[in-house]
Amino acid sequence: MDLSKLTHEAESGLMETFSKQSTVTAAAPGRVNLIGEHIDYCDGFVLPFALEQNIIIAAAPNDSSTVRLASSLGGDTVEIDVSSDIPEAEPKWANYPRGVMQYFREETGCTLPGFDAYITSNVPSGGGLSSSAAFELATATLLEGLTGIKLDTKTKALLCQKAEHNYAHCPCGIMDQFASAFGEQDRLVMIDCQSGEPTLVPFENPDLTVIVANTCVAHELSDGGYASRRKATEDGLEIIGKPSWRDVTAADVESAKEQMGDVVYRRGRHVVGEIQRTVDAAKALEQNDFDTLGELMYASHASLRDDFEVSCEELDIMVEIAQALGKDGGVIGSRMTGGGFGGSTVTLCESSKAGDIVAAMTGQYTSRTGIKAEIFTSRPSQGARII
Ligand code: GLA
Repeated sequence: MDLSKLTHEAESGLMETFSKQSTVTAAAPGRVNLIGEHIDYCDGFVLPFALEQNIIIAAAPNDSSTVRLASSLGGDTVEIDVSSDIPEAEPKWANYPRGVMQYFREETGCTLPGFDAYITSNVPSGGGLSSSAAFELATATLLEGLTGIKLDTKTKALLCQKAEHNYAHCPCGIMDQFASAFGEQDRLVMIDCQSGEPTLVPFENPDLTVIVANTCVAHELSDGGYASRRKATEDGLEIIGKPSWRDVTAADVESAKEQMGDVVYRRGRHVVGEIQRTVDAAKALEQNDFDTLGELMYASHASLRDDFEVSCEELDIMVEIAQALGKDGGVIGSRMTGGGFGGSTVTLCESSKAGDIVAAMTGQYTSRTGIKAEIFTSRPSQGARII
């Protein structure tokens, strides 16, 4: 569904559910990451962009201190008292806006107004495309619109990350919230996760297309797999004894191999390799060196599969299908994207062959797994905003 339809759905949902005309409508996108996986919490570099897919919230004040949330996904309307601290509660999906509202209050010192809101989305949920960051950023942007208090973009992204940590209990890095907040049309958001600064990198070559393939195998980042990966990288760095993964070389990891043990050693090997691959990929992209870029994407996938162990059979199959279509079929490179344990792959291809590639991936994935995938193309798009 395109953005104007989705917006219309949110605004008419608000009217039907609460008999209110929207006074503020906010949108925030999901993200896909070209390369640089599981290194945003290791001071690495990451190269995501904001998707064309968004979460939209249409809202209007209700002259009370209660926020009422309804969504196109159904379920009961959720009521949240915003007159004082906002605790976690059921249903769990509402903890994203609860967390953002709490930290928006703390950050600005404002009294939140009560409002009614209706939420729509075309970011696949559980697809590893950061629907949660989109929900957080859409909420924070909506609050800016309703209160008239504009946050600095970085402050807004960090506040949303804090909500993810403490209300969704996922110890995520900064990639998703930054991509959703800073994204722009035809720009990648290259993030130096050590300095915490994003740089917008042009991505406007019309001959290049990005295919996002949701395997439709759902993952749950807070189930411990993500946290245990993060912990292993922290343990590894402590053993190596340097202040940051950015100071660590492949030789450092090799020398500490015995002390680290097999698992932590392989996690560390991934981190050092992936930081280098991301730097190299940014360079290859700038020089239109697509052979190198493709090899780096495949190497990233192999490392996430074998060393970091966050891939799964369905992701591997999706990448294998793209890789087998190969350069002759117009595929430049392919890899899993996001946290893993299911979710999506990202495939870079020649635009003229994108339609054929999507068709081949769709058909072959279903015949190999029996699962119907959700496969689409997206250009880098605008980050969180009021519409
Ligand atoms: C999830 C997290 C991000 C990042 C990726 C893996 O999307 O939210 O911070 O760590 O996984 O690269």
